[in-house]
Formats: sequence, C-alpha cells, structure tokens
Amino acid sequence: MNHVILVAGATGELGGKLCMELLNRGATVRAIVRAASKETTKAHLRKIGVTTIETELSDLRSLTAACDGVSCVVSTLAGLHDVIVTGQSQLLQAAIAAGVPRFIPSDFCTDYTQLQVGANRNFDLRKTFQSIIDERNIQATSIFNGAFTHVLKYGIPLLNTNDQQIAYYTGKLDWKIDFTTLDDTAAYTAAAALDNATPRYLRIAGGQVSPRELVAISKRLFGKDFQLTEQGTVEDFALYIKKVREEQPQGEHELYPSWQQMQYLYSMFSAHHATLDNDRYPLSWQSVEDALK
Ligand SMILES: NC(=O)c1ccc[n+]([C@@H]2O[C@H](COP(=O)([O-])OP(=O)(O)OC[C@H]3O[C@@H](n4cnc5c(N)ncnc54)[C@H](OP(=O)(O)O)[C@@H]3O)[C@@H](O)[C@H]2O)c1
Repeated sequence: MNHVILVAGATGELGGKLCMELLNRGATVRAIVRAASKETTKAHLRKIGVTTIETELSDLRSLTAACDGVSCVVSTLAGLHDVIVTGQSQLLQAAIAAGVPRFIPSDFCTDYTQLQVGANRNFDLRKTFQSIIDERNIQATSIFNGAFTHVLKYGIPLLNTNDQQIAYYTGKLDWKIDFTTLDDTAAYTAAAALDNATPRYLRIAGGQVSPRELVAISKRLFGKDFQLTEQGTVEDFALYIKKVREEQPQGEHELYPSWQQMQYLYSMFSAHHATLDNDRYPLSWQSVEDALK
C-alpha cells in the first residue's frame, strides 16, 4: 500500500531528514510549509520529490485539504505555545476532519512522562498537547529519543571541551543518559510513520552513556583527561533553575533561554529509558562516540 505522509516542519532540521527517509521508503510525502519559509529550502524539498503545500497553521480549511488521503501526519514543528499547542491542535483538528488515522506529534525529546509539570517548560507544552490528543479519536504515537547527540558538541556542562570538564549531579555518576542522532531519529520516525500498529510511546537511543563513561569516551576522542565535577543534587539544581527563570521573565517568550537549557540538562539527569524500542525496525544506530568523532 502506498502511504501518503503529511509532514509539518519539513523545512527544519529533523523534518528535512524525515522527508528524505520517507521518500527512500517509497512513501508519497506532502509537506505544509509557510509563505515565509526559506525559498531555497522549499525548492530543495520539491526537488527531492516532496509536494509542498503553502499554508499557515491558522488555516483550517487548507490544512484539512492537505490531510486528504493521508495515512499519518508527522509534526516536527519547533516553537512555543502558539506552535506546539495551538498550531498542532489546528493540525490535529484538520487530520481528524479528513479522516487521517494516525498522528505523530513533535515530541522527539526525553521521556517527559517521567517528569513533573514545571520541570521543563518546553516539555510542559508537549504534555499539554498530549492531553489534547489523548482525548481525540486518533492513534497518537510519541517518539522519545532522549537528547540529540550533537548537543554534546555545544560545550554544555555535561561535556565542556574548553575546560575539559564533565558535570554530574550527586549520585548520578553512573546515570545513563539517552542520546540519538538526528539521522537515526529521522530514520526511525519514518519507519514508525509507515507502521500502522505503533503503540502510544516509542523509546529509542543510539547510545546510553553515563558521565563516568563520557570521561573514557573523551579521553579516546580528544586524548585528554576530562575532570568530573559534582554539581550538587538535582533537587538543588531544580531550585536554582526556578530562581533563574523567575529572574528572567523575558525568557518565557524565547524558545531556548538559558534557564530552558538548564532544564534540558536537569531532564537528562532526571528521566531515562528503562527499555528501548530500537529493534522494532531493522536500523543501524550511531553510538555517541562515533557521532562525536
Ligand atoms: N531531543 C533534543 O535534543 C532536541 C534538540 C533540538 C530539537 N528537538 C526537537 O525536535 C523537533 C524538531 O526540531 P528541529 O531542530 O528540527 O527544529 P527546526 O530546525 O527549528 O525546525 C522547526 C520547523 O518548525 C517550523 N515552524 C516554526 N514555527 C512555525 C509556525 N509558527 N508555523 C509553521 N511552521 C513553523 C519551521 O518552519 P520555517 O522554516 O517556516 O521556520 C521549521 O520547519 C522539535 O520537537 C524540537 O523540540 C529535540
């Protein structure tokens, strides 16, 4: 059966790779793009075989038309409440009106079902959308991939290559953190989009590494001895982030303010996958070490 998949967010990093993976699997791929999306990116999508439909998330009629005959809507949208809650809800309404049976929301993060509301603002938006979609008559599947492996290249405290330090929290030296590359997440999401029998949640990781293991990986990659630095408890870290968030209210309107980045780090040390669904599809996975090479 020829699947028709509608991708929202195709002009983004994950969405573009997802379109390619879907096309490679023989799917017909439609993408809703904005008038304001980069012309070169839209042209590239069309060149590789994606049908682009120019519309806005506010245009329910055009979204519903875009969903006609679609077997799964996949959202890789990035944004705040207007996108993750309001925009995705519009897309959901259109999908249901058009009779689309399945919807994969733009989660692609640490397993937020293990986290309390307030722990991570961007995950709270996903939790809000989760409560909306779970009330509707459509098959929803969230993909939890932990962190994208490339975030380790951003000089975050977990792998500070400038100071050769690896931060960890009390009792978490051997705590495994889930990492998956963008490529592997895109490939897995494409396979899931074409699989009519996916469960509500799929949990994946190309690698699960602890701070202690990161020291050994860093030694092999950079030839240097990285120092482990204990930062206190995750509970104290949460209190500190709360204080910074209160002091920086303008960050509420930004996607990645400094306190949000701290919330991601907090989340890495507070939730991880007990079991993985990696083997559901025949894919090969890039390890953290290989991805950092
Ligand atoms: N686990 C992790 O470590 C990690 C890291 C990064 C991202 N993520 C998640 O992965 C997913 C994809 O992220 P990404 O990095 O691929 O994002 P991205 O490159 O920033 O792309 C975002 C996409 O959303 C679209 N978009 C944004 N605002 C919109 C609006 N108001 N109306 C319509 N479209 C809009 C953009 O369209 P335009 O091109 O028109 O702007 C673009 O296609 C998100 O859920 C994100 O939170 C996870």
